[in-house]
Amino acid sequence: MKLFIDTANVDDIRRANDMGIICGVTTNPSLIAKEGRDFKQVVKEITEIVDGPVSAEVISLEADKMVEEALPLAAIHKNIVIKLPMCEEGLKACKQLTAKGIKTNVTLVFSAAQALLAARAGATFVSPFLGRLDDIGMEGMNLIEEIVDIFNAQGIETEIIAASIRNPMHVTQAARLGCDIATVPMNVLLQMLKHPLTDNGIDRFLKDWEGFTSKQK
Ligand code: E4P
Repeated sequence: MKLFIDTANVDDIRRANDMGIICGVTTNPSLIAKEGRDFKQVVKEITEIVDGPVSAEVISLEADKMVEEALPLAAIHKNIVIKLPMCEEGLKACKQLTAKGIKTNVTLVFSAAQALLAARAGATFVSPFLGRLDDIGMEGMNLIEEIVDIFNAQGIETEIIAASIRNPMHVTQAARLGCDIATVPMNVLLQMLKHPLTDNGIDRFLKDWEGFTSKQK
């Protein structure tokens, strides 16, 4: 399973990219707003850091306007993926952008039926939001499993991005289920990195080495 980072913070994107762990980025209007910077400038900077798909979301609610918004975004870089909301107008825009050879990511997917529709409309990626399902007392991971099963059974090539990730278990469970991608916030990537036994192990190796070398002097 590939890892994307879910943020619009270029410092975090650079940090994750330098570790070699990510191969794509997802943003959304909330994440862009949090940075308080020009949308297109941020997206351009991201494409200069990461050599992989970078999702940029439209905010219009009518298909023609979504396409109008998408075209200048797609022109920023060949790796731009247009993120569209899961709704009738979003699917219409998905069909039109797909016909133009522009990659799409249908977002805010909360059911397998929605994922199937997005795939049929030509989506390059679908983003089921598992954390937000967990938040309302449902089992978000069941949705990932269902979509993976359907796409495998039907030979659907649309890639599944496990989104709204809240913890490392979300990532490893999605990987176990055969999900294509997880888009992970920086704090969760850092949680994945850490294990107390690794830190203890490094300390002990260093102490043992110091003891050995000091005896040799
Ligand atoms: C996905 O592409 C979204 O940007 C993101 O995962 C939303 O996550 P949230 O539920 O933490 O806002």
